[in-house]
Amino acid sequence: MSLRMSAKKGEAIELPIVRSIADLRSAIALRRAAGESIGLVPTMGALHEGHLALVRASCSGMDCTVATVLVNPLQFSPDEDFESYPRNEAGDAAMLSEAGADLLYAPAIEEIYPEGFSTKVEVTGLTDVLCGAFRPVHFSGVATVVTKLFLQALPDAAFFGEKDYQQVLVVRRLVRDLDIPIHIEMVPTVREADGLALSSRNAYLTAEERAVAPKLYATLNEMAMAIRKGNAIAETIAIGEAALREAGFRSIDYLDVRDPETLARVEVSGRPARIFAAVHLGKARLIDNLAIPG
Ligand code: PAF
Repeated sequence: MSLRMSAKKGEAIELPIVRSIADLRSAIALRRAAGESIGLVPTMGALHEGHLALVRASCSGMDCTVATVLVNPLQFSPDEDFESYPRNEAGDAAMLSEAGADLLYAPAIEEIYPEGFSTKVEVTGLTDVLCGAFRPVHFSGVATVVTKLFLQALPDAAFFGEKDYQQVLVVRRLVRDLDIPIHIEMVPTVREADGLALSSRNAYLTAEERAVAPKLYATLNEMAMAIRKGNAIAETIAIGEAALREAGFRSIDYLDVRDPETLARVEVSGRPARIFAAVHLGKARLIDNLAIPG
């Protein structure tokens, strides 16, 4: 059971948890009938301050915040960490309650993907590059589950983290293309004091790897400064890759400078651009991205 104190009366409030689509819809219908706006925060659990920033962003603009926790098998390849992905529903519920969420939707996987489930949502183009090129099923899995969650909850707005920038573009494109009337809000990346972007997968890092991990963000910052000063992009990427290898990252899936809207490669400085990286460190795959200041 997860409790939080009522701001007005100082009494403990239990965070309600719903586990079926019917119960979710009934709970939201009551809120709608009371004239409330609904914010949705989709997550896979193993929550950290980055997720709580999404919850707080929703709470600050919406009357009712619904967080979802579902480790979505569709977005993992067979060789990825679906089985070992950290799960801690009680801890998640306590954190959500504390952050001000009004409802936790933790559906049973069997209801989300019933026997014979055979529909997928594919966003083409944006998903051919960066993480999409290295994780072939990932974005169709994300697009499919997010579409289902949107249709189940029918929120006014949904909140996603900037760390997963490509995911935000994919979700924005799918709501536009499918005429789903939900505003998609991107919430800034939350970082540790040393710059490491918060991620549930940081839990895989050993103490030694944890000391290396912030060098990813430091390298992106150095690259952003260099490109801003007018240094050639190709050369800056080569220097950045060398710095990451020297720091101890096991392998680099990509280190790239791309257009912030289309994700097309940017080859000359002076244009709107963002640096994107995915690297491996021990058992963890870390991603990060950074805008190059104009
Ligand atoms: O960002 C995530 O945690 C997941 O990709 C999401 C959006 C909850 C879909 O499973």
